Amino acid sequence: MSLRETYIKELRGLAAQDIDSVEMRWQSPSNIALIKYWGKHGNQLPMNPSVSFTLSKCFSDTYFKLIKKTGPSSTINVGFTLDQKASPVFSNRIKDYFDSIKDLCPFLTGYDIIIESSNSFPHSAGIASSASGFSALALCLTTMEDNLYGNLDDDLKFRRKASYLSRLGSGSASRSIYKRASWWGESPEIADSSDEFAVDVSELLHPIFNGFQDSVLIVSSDKKPVSSSHGHQLMDFHPYRKGRLHQADQHLRDMKSALQIGDLERFGHIVESEALSLHALMLSSSPGYFLISGETIAVIRAIRAFRESEKIPCYFTLDAGPNVHLLYPQQFSTQVKEFIIDELEPLTDHVIYDELGNGPVQLS
Ligand code: DP6
Repeated sequence: MSLRETYIKELRGLAAQDIDSVEMRWQSPSNIALIKYWGKHGNQLPMNPSVSFTLSKCFSDTYFKLIKKTGPSSTINVGFTLDQKASPVFSNRIKDYFDSIKDLCPFLTGYDIIIESSNSFPHSAGIASSASGFSALALCLTTMEDNLYGNLDDDLKFRRKASYLSRLGSGSASRSIYKRASWWGESPEIADSSDEFAVDVSELLHPIFNGFQDSVLIVSSDKKPVSSSHGHQLMDFHPYRKGRLHQADQHLRDMKSALQIGDLERFGHIVESEALSLHALMLSSSPGYFLISGETIAVIRAIRAFRESEKIPCYFTLDAGPNVHLLYPQQFSTQVKEFIIDELEPLTDHVIYDELGNGPVQLS
């Protein structure tokens, strides 16, 4: 039986509490992938496992209210605002998402739903908000399920369900459920790992990663010309698909050991290789495209020159966009921040100084 069937069957066997209305609020962070999820199959299953750091200051804050409908209904009624404004694009994506999971969350048709979401980072900052947004939403759905059926009091069970539901909204969102570091994708390297949900791998981290910094250098906030969803699709028949799978496999093994022993040089070599490979895969897709800009390359060159001359372990990674994440240990914050202000800020629109975070928080 698939996990989806197991989850559906479990709820069918439970009696729901009679709840007229309920409201809650979750704050959930974004994450930055060290090993990238790029390419998928089936229903939101990853082509290869990925590993990420959970961020702290870049988060979505989602208020969720359900009011019981008076009569039977098979439709989903949802009102959604982002930063107090109607957002037809996100609203439609959420409706499609709810439609796709109504067998998993049967209460979605029994209640009128109000969602008010906001992001701590500017909407146009060029930071993917789908990871924080969908994970916050999935945490609300999971909490509602627990209120109705009382079946998720075990923290691990609760988080797995939340990660599973997050993944169905946006793959990278599955990794935002845990503190500090997450692994999504079945692999012999990690016990209990699965393609269906992410797992907490914060225990792997060597103390050098405590308070690890991620300064997000926003070089452009423009809308991406090619969405991640389309980029994933282009991996289906990509000429380097096999090579990418092999590379990801090798990187996962090496990254696991670098995280465990605190080998920053190896860590840095892998994150930079992952970032450049991700964009090389875009360049060599059919049709090929690129999301990095001249400023992205100038920032990367400056980072490499600074690392070389100052012997400070700071490394870049990239999302599916032109912005650069600069990763470094907390103990070098003063020197790296000085470097950012002097040399990188002139090349960027603005900088968000973030760091490893403790995962989502239920605010009410
Ligand atoms: C490059 O999670 O945004 O950031 O599942 O289609 O919503 P969907 O894709 P998404 O892809 C993220 C791609 C990435 C790498 C990563 O975060 O692992």
